[in-house]
Amino acid sequence: MSAEGASEGVKLWGGRFEGATDPVMEKFNASISYDKAMWKQDIQGSVAYARALQKAGLLTAEECGSITGGLQAVKEEWAANTFNIQPGDEDIHTANERRLKELVGDVGGKVHTGRSRNDQVATDMKLWLRDYLTHIASHLIELIKVLVDRAEKEKTILMPGYTHLQRAQPIRWSHWLLSHAWPLVIDLERLRSLYHRINTCPLGSGALAGNPFPVDRATLARELGFREATKNSLFAVSDRDFVVEYMFWASLVSVHLSRMAEDMTLYSSREFNFVLLSDAYATGSSLMPQKKNPDSFELIRGKAGTLSGNLCGFLMVMKGLPSTYNKDLQEDKVKMFETACTLQGILQVAAGAMATLKVNEAACRRALTEEMLATDVAYYLVKKGMPFRMAHGKAGEVVKLTEDLKCSFSQLPLDKLATVSELFTEDVSAVWNFEHSVEQYEAAGGTGLSSVNSQIADARAFLSSFSLTQQ
Ligand code: ARG
Repeated sequence: MSAEGASEGVKLWGGRFEGATDPVMEKFNASISYDKAMWKQDIQGSVAYARALQKAGLLTAEECGSITGGLQAVKEEWAANTFNIQPGDEDIHTANERRLKELVGDVGGKVHTGRSRNDQVATDMKLWLRDYLTHIASHLIELIKVLVDRAEKEKTILMPGYTHLQRAQPIRWSHWLLSHAWPLVIDLERLRSLYHRINTCPLGSGALAGNPFPVDRATLARELGFREATKNSLFAVSDRDFVVEYMFWASLVSVHLSRMAEDMTLYSSREFNFVLLSDAYATGSSLMPQKKNPDSFELIRGKAGTLSGNLCGFLMVMKGLPSTYNKDLQEDKVKMFETACTLQGILQVAAGAMATLKVNEAACRRALTEEMLATDVAYYLVKKGMPFRMAHGKAGEVVKLTEDLKCSFSQLPLDKLATVSELFTEDVSAVWNFEHSVEQYEAAGGTGLSSVNSQIADARAFLSSFSLTQQ
């Protein structure tokens, strides 16, 4: 074992320093408490880099073997939770290198040849994010399936559709469910293009100027599963656009779910009573025994705010940084990990709460009131040849008539309707029917049954062929 670099508290960068780091500064500077989450990716990157060094003639096969063997042993310690973080372990890169040198001796120091923590950290983060995106995509797919499955099963349930939170037109509950599935489908498409942009390899960029040794960066990139090596070393070590883009993506997903959660919060109130949350996704009040609170959905709504805050916070860190790596960038991981963990919770809770709630079909039905058919009165006249603008006015007159006579549409005698337009005949009675109303919207994208069925089929087809890596 080497004496240098292996003893407690010796810094990787300690050569020119005489004085010790202030303990408060030491803590302030350290990122190991959170970047240890990348232990696997850090080792993965080092193994590939050691092989690249061997190919470049900078390590003998034997040296490379002992480094990769040592890294494998470090990896096993992490996996078994026996890795001991030491006081001088500033970050995951320092910790792994320190341990490697303890295990294999001075040769361990060769793995950093031409490499800097600057290209190392950017590579680790991209590897970590790539793994995470694959994982989060499966949670998102799970949630979309919950919404689509429900839409399939509950196609006959009708409810009011709202604009301005005012009752507008009758719709299918399935159509509402799918209206929250589609933005998530598009989020998956967005994720695929984001994955493509993330998937370039910064390793081999050094601290900033590049790699002075004949390291084959294209092969190195391929070994790590990246599609290519980054194009410019200065850009590579300073680039955190992938973190920003990912956090924007996560914020947008959470905003989509926050809007769905807002509807669910309203719809589960006594005033609406359209849905009943499962006990598994609601909580009670410590004071009011009758309460059942939609905390799952409220937290989804609240955490969407936190995620947008993370995005804006990190953009502020990036803004105005001088060229290449600056330690400010270390803040990236705090935000990236928090966003990752929060988004996973949001997706899992949303899927669970949406899968287990019960729809109150009768309450949805009771909320459908005949004035919501006013547009259909206009459409009735349009179908008899009247221009829509005139028909809209005539339908307004019919609404006025119901107000004057204090009755609903279906209670209006035909002779009264005839005073508004002689186009009204017996067949108008078919208009006073919510199923009939909903079924008019058969054009693609509407709330009619055939459109809902094609939406379900299209969403399922998308999910079954989806892959993060296909472009
Ligand atoms: N812990 C650092 C970070 O996360 C690693 C890179 C440090 N580079 C340096 N030159 N100090 O950003």
